[in-house]
Amino acid sequence: MKLLVTGGAGFIGTNFVYHILAAHPEDEIVVLDKLTYAGNIENIAPVRNDPRFRFVKGDICDAAIVDDLVKHADAVVHFAAESHVDRSIKDASPFVMTNVVGTQTLLDACRRNGNVRFHHVSTDEVFGSLGQRGMFSETSPYDPRSPYSASKAAADHLVRAAWHTHALPVTISNCSNNYGPYQFPEKLIPLCITHLLENKKIPIYGDGMNVRDWLAVEDHCRGVDLALRHGRMGETYCFGGRSERTNSEIAQRILREMGCGRERMEFVTDRQGHDRRYAIDFSKAEKEFGWSPETPFLHGLRKTIDWYKANVDWWKNIQNGTYREYDELQSISK
Ligand code: NAD
Ligand code: DAU
Repeated sequence: MKLLVTGGAGFIGTNFVYHILAAHPEDEIVVLDKLTYAGNIENIAPVRNDPRFRFVKGDICDAAIVDDLVKHADAVVHFAAESHVDRSIKDASPFVMTNVVGTQTLLDACRRNGNVRFHHVSTDEVFGSLGQRGMFSETSPYDPRSPYSASKAAADHLVRAAWHTHALPVTISNCSNNYGPYQFPEKLIPLCITHLLENKKIPIYGDGMNVRDWLAVEDHCRGVDLALRHGRMGETYCFGGRSERTNSEIAQRILREMGCGRERMEFVTDRQGHDRRYAIDFSKAEKEFGWSPETPFLHGLRKTIDWYKANVDWWKNIQNGTYREYDELQSISK
């Protein structure tokens, strides 16, 4: 299959590229990525000379570029997004532009080019916030509460509308919190690890009792791959880690694994509108194509800590803004 992977230089997109190249030797991948602050060409640099791989720097809102690439694709796997809730609270406009307008631009190109298969990668945050009990599933009502989740919810609706109105062959997946290699160090787990490696304290919002359902990124990538190949058109699939933890538990576990004391964690001002709890019932994906999370949380967390310890240059370069630019890498690969 010829895949157009948007956002393939970001955290999950990068892991997906490596998953596909290893799992499907017959597949070809074109990555379209704008290389925002969160996109890093270094992530995929090791495969830049692989004949099955091509990188294109560009914006998913740019209809001409998108059209040109969709034309040659059998399927689009859409990861590109503004992804950080805290940033969306400060400024929602890039979220509306990329997550809403960008998604519609891709859908339009898929329609124009003979109804190209489209898989949309979305989030459990579109369902809002849970109380102490219950889980989100594919039938949960939409109730987004941050500018980020509202923009992802809008995108989900546009994808579903393309299916109902134009019979565009789409699937959607809504996933819980991912962790693993290449995650930008603004997100909780890599932030905790890199702060401890730099002798800083871990900042935990509010009372630390907000709950997330943690999923190893490789399990998520396997799920997206299965939904792409075996999902039913027009359907949504939820992916979760069966691994609910409070933020306080996450911080304390990382402290323990890194040999640090509780005094290295501090409670700070809460996130505005902070969703209390997410949890996912993934039984539909399990029943329809046999997906379930395989990585035990502690095992995945230890591997992640080891990755950030072994790749200090990767995150220090991000912090210092000293990673190689796209043009520099292009000239090296020629
Ligand atoms: P990320 O922020 O690490 O990466 C996003 C990528 O998209 C970056 O490479 C960035 O350069 C690119 N991008 C942004 N705007 C673009 C544009 N206009 N045109 C082209 N490229 C653009 O994000 P992530 O954590 O890898 O998330 C990937 C997808 O998965 C997102 O759609 C997100 O909503 C969804 N998701 C993430 C999680 C999670 O825990 N990280 C969980 C569920 C769903
Ligand atoms: O649920 C899926 C979502 O998970 C994805 O759609 C988003 O793209 C992804 O960023 C993530 O959103 P969260 O807001 O849950 O992730 P984040 O890592 O920012 O925060 C996780 C929890 O940790 C959340 O309850 C806020 C808290 N937190 C976060 C940071 C950055 C802290 O307590 N301190 C922090 O410094």
